[in-house]
Amino acid sequence: MRLSLRFLLPLALALAGVAYAVIPLVDTLTLKWFVRDIEIRVQLIAGTMEGPLSELVASQSKAKLQAYLQRIIQDERLFAIGFCDRNNQLIYKTATYPDSVPCEQAAEVKSGPTAVVRLAQGAVHVAAVGLETGGRPLGRLILLHDMSWAERRSSLTKWYLFYLFAGIGVVISLVTVLVAHLSWRGWVQGVRGMLRGEGLIGLIRDQQHKPELQPVAQDLRAMIHELQSDKRMRDERQMSWKPATLKMILRDHLAGDEVMIVSNREPYVHNRRDQQIDVQVPASGVVTALEPIMRACSGVWIAHGSGSGDRDVVDARNHVRVPPDDPAYEIRRIWMTSEEEEGYYYGFANEGLWPLCHLAHVRPVFRSSDWTHYKAINERFAMTIVEEAKTDNPVVLIQDYHLALVPKMVRDRLPHATIITFWHIPWPNPESYAICPWHQDILEGLLGSSILGFHTRFHCSNFIKTVDRSLETRIDWDSSTISYGGKLTAVNHYPISIEWPSRMFLGQPSVPECRTQIRAKYGLSASHQVGIGVERLDYTKGILERFLAVERLLELQPEWIGKLSFLQLAAPSRSKIDEYQHLGQQVTAFADRINRRFGRGTYQPIYLMIKHHDPEEIAIHYRAADFCVVSSLHDGMNLVAKEFVAARDDEQGVLILSQFTGAAAELAEALVVNPYNIDECAAALQLALTMPGTEQRARMRSLRGIVQEFNVYRWAGRMLMDAARMRQRARVLRQTGGRDVRAATEEFR
Ligand code: F6P
Repeated sequence: MRLSLRFLLPLALALAGVAYAVIPLVDTLTLKWFVRDIEIRVQLIAGTMEGPLSELVASQSKAKLQAYLQRIIQDERLFAIGFCDRNNQLIYKTATYPDSVPCEQAAEVKSGPTAVVRLAQGAVHVAAVGLETGGRPLGRLILLHDMSWAERRSSLTKWYLFYLFAGIGVVISLVTVLVAHLSWRGWVQGVRGMLRGEGLIGLIRDQQHKPELQPVAQDLRAMIHELQSDKRMRDERQMSWKPATLKMILRDHLAGDEVMIVSNREPYVHNRRDQQIDVQVPASGVVTALEPIMRACSGVWIAHGSGSGDRDVVDARNHVRVPPDDPAYEIRRIWMTSEEEEGYYYGFANEGLWPLCHLAHVRPVFRSSDWTHYKAINERFAMTIVEEAKTDNPVVLIQDYHLALVPKMVRDRLPHATIITFWHIPWPNPESYAICPWHQDILEGLLGSSILGFHTRFHCSNFIKTVDRSLETRIDWDSSTISYGGKLTAVNHYPISIEWPSRMFLGQPSVPECRTQIRAKYGLSASHQVGIGVERLDYTKGILERFLAVERLLELQPEWIGKLSFLQLAAPSRSKIDEYQHLGQQVTAFADRINRRFGRGTYQPIYLMIKHHDPEEIAIHYRAADFCVVSSLHDGMNLVAKEFVAARDDEQGVLILSQFTGAAAELAEALVVNPYNIDECAAALQLALTMPGTEQRARMRSLRGIVQEFNVYRWAGRMLMDAARMRQRARVLRQTGGRDVRAATEEFR
């Protein structure tokens, strides 16, 4: 409203000024035109009257002359006529002739505006025309025209003009206010956008709906976009990585393109319990890493609906919105029969590829029936991606060894899609990999990706060497790209991480409270030393080895007996597989044996909890512990190590970390051990138990800095930025028709 007045007031004043100057001018002009009209009439009337009037004057018949004059003034505008003789005596006149216009005055009257005089009856035009007869002056004919009609017309014209200006004023005001409002809002939003850090793009974007600005806006937008993209892409290390950063990448670098995540494991599992449906967050590195990404980007997460209550909560299109307490994105569930799950998941993925890629000395098993299911389920995932895609070039983030064939299957159907595949487990050396009977199919499947990511350079190098051995490809070792079937795949390392700050630790009790809670839970004294291990019950995790290390420590340093307990949280995993069942029995037997050997009364050196634990429960354990052991025999990254670090905002606690994890390359301030070397691990336990608080603080502070800086948003952001670069390059190639120097040289010849 205030804005409208700001525009309206000056406009009204300007219009009033214009009206004030123009209306009198128009008035004078119209009067001039009327007078000129009357003067022409006067000449006409006088010319017509001259003959008859001379005769009548000569006949001296006063009555006839009077009647003649009376007839003439029947004309409604001719108001009165008088005739003055040569001596300026008014000798004849009509009854309407006013006394106030004597012959002397009339004789002086000249033609022109001055001839208009104001009498009692209103404005009158007075004209005196000399008449002659036989060459001698006869006298003067005085004609008085009524000018009141001219005044009436003039005043009408003034009103018309006034209404016209007022009308124009109103129309101009409305248009001005409307345009001003729109552009003001647009620019204000744009400026606000700039202040919010959205840059000039926002400003231009807001103006671009104006057709006249479109070409300029487009050019400017393109230019600024390129400049900003380039700058941001170069400054990856300077960026602060958080959910908003990912949103910014999607908006600025991927133009808000749709993002889909595809994995076997779903982030929320609905399970039927009695009459209720429980929601569970599975113990999975994929879920830990990707859930915050999906929260930040929205979109769809395609995954296997593995929960007993999963079908009960989806809509007709098999979608369910999650997280349940604050929905931010959708899970699209894929169904499979238990036979299919047996072959695809338990069989090929976890009895074949899992041990193949992990050097944990468990023999991989490859069955052709499992392979058939693996192919069919991969096809099902691919078809679902195509079905879910809203555009022909979505950004698809495919996760892990369960879906190795999906990239190619999607590429065949959506050639313009940007496919980022991340392999969450290690990649073995070419000799080991060649054990897989379908090793070429797996490689071809993965080479459907635009970007293929591993945790470490070492895994990337293993993969490229494997491809080199198995397929006819063009490999550029410098840029780490593989060209196969005319399609380029970039192979890069992207160390995965966790969100920072982690929601898992928000609102948790203080560290002293957690220590008290956990010690009370296990019936331990306040000074009791506590170690922690958290994982799926998997043979790659080195759980047996860490139990052996605890045993060795108690052997070598018996003063810890009764003062130290190790809490192992182990989520049951893949328990249909023999190896996993066997592991379950083994760890239980090891824990029992050690507890029998060193247990005293209620004292237990090892507490083994084989069950699912909620993230909150895990967080309290992390915060209560004096040290955490991650002793994987082989691991892609291992996020437990990073979670423990993130949990310790008190900067206390020691991390003992296997050298065979991807995390060891980043977390050098941990006590890095070879899990196969039991004595070394026992020594690390002793070191952790006796480490001064100041040293713990120095190590933990540095570790926290690394996890904070290299958080999961950076992991995803780097991949998305690389994808954006690829898309940009593809766009340029399309625009330039893919012309290159080689083709130009051909034409040149
Ligand atoms: O480590 C590979 C991985 O896919 C992880 O990303 C994840 O933590 C785990 O395996 C999940 O196992 P599953 O889905 O079989 O329970």
